[in-house]
Amino acid sequence: MPSAVQAIQCSQTVHRHNERDQYSDCFQECMSSLAEQAIRWSDNRLVLLDQRKLPSEVRFVECNSIGEVTAAIRDMVVRGAPAIGVSAAYGIVLAARQHCAASPGSWKKTIEADLQELLQARPTAVNLKWVVTRMRGAIAKAGHDRPEAELLHAAKQIHRQDVEANRAIGAHGAALLETDAVVLTHCNAGALATGGYGTALGVIRSACAQNKIKTIYADETRPWFQGTRLTAWELLQDGIPVTLICDGAAASLMRRKQLAWVIVGADRVACNGDVANKIGTYSLAVMARQHGVGFMVAAPTSTIDLEVSSGDRIEIEERSYREVTEYQGHTLAPAGARVWNPVFDITPAELVTALVTEKGAVKHPTADKIRNLMRK
Ligand code: MRU
Repeated sequence: MPSAVQAIQCSQTVHRHNERDQYSDCFQECMSSLAEQAIRWSDNRLVLLDQRKLPSEVRFVECNSIGEVTAAIRDMVVRGAPAIGVSAAYGIVLAARQHCAASPGSWKKTIEADLQELLQARPTAVNLKWVVTRMRGAIAKAGHDRPEAELLHAAKQIHRQDVEANRAIGAHGAALLETDAVVLTHCNAGALATGGYGTALGVIRSACAQNKIKTIYADETRPWFQGTRLTAWELLQDGIPVTLICDGAAASLMRRKQLAWVIVGADRVACNGDVANKIGTYSLAVMARQHGVGFMVAAPTSTIDLEVSSGDRIEIEERSYREVTEYQGHTLAPAGARVWNPVFDITPAELVTALVTEKGAVKHPTADKIRNLMRK
């Protein structure tokens, strides 16, 4: 994290997730919905819940510039495709403020370099491209002087619409579940990964509210442990029981536990329905097919990339070898071991039982069905 990014830490921000009553006063007001407040615009800056530290530490990072927001996205202070997009929108508000102050007459041109850098921060999540395109539209319409209020309005609208989309996804997805469903989710596609409520976890939340769920399993999701650290934390914060499994236990789970659905999010969906999502998603889809388990992808239509014809054309982000050889500063692998660390994979459309968006669910997605959905 660059030194310019300030961490807001009150004296008692180090807590275990099951010690909620010990939260200090400064977190009291938001402790019932910390995950929902993972992205906040407050006092003219962006405040992000630092997802690298959860669940052992609840710590917020303050971003006052576009550089700080880009770094926060790249370093995974904030992660999850829609959450990256929402944070980027607020980052562009900060960029406009900076560029307007530095070069009032030409800020709409000078801001471009920062937008390009922002687009590179996480290459697989299409929401970044979607948000930059939308905010460019807002920039074009904004006045040359004091554009901040107009751009902030656009960013807040993106944030609000994402939460609304997730609630609709939750309802459409839950409708596909029978009662007493046993489900497995991968990575974290919850409130932490979105503007709020979640996509895959939105479906699970809605289904829980309808008493349709018997057991929720969550994959640990190596190497970053989004399942162990984030999904488990987020569900337990809401009082929703969750059972963690090692990634390698998924096939046995499907064979032995009458799993009904695997429910995941997406970083990008190609025109033909191929899905880019957290590494390990493809293997779950293959296993689900083998065991007759439904495979649901829950994602807003902003995650569908109409410029990409198939999954082969989606850039897969590769991250540092250290994510594999180390855990929180502890070395796990012997020196000299080589590492390949692609953090997403592609699940072919033919393995997807249902693609659930805010516009409705598409069973067995194809290019034609997706085109029709987008026209709605
Ligand atoms: O590397 P991450 O943690 O950003 O990856 C997140 C995922 O793969 C999620 O499943 C996806 O972004 C959807 S989040 C609603």
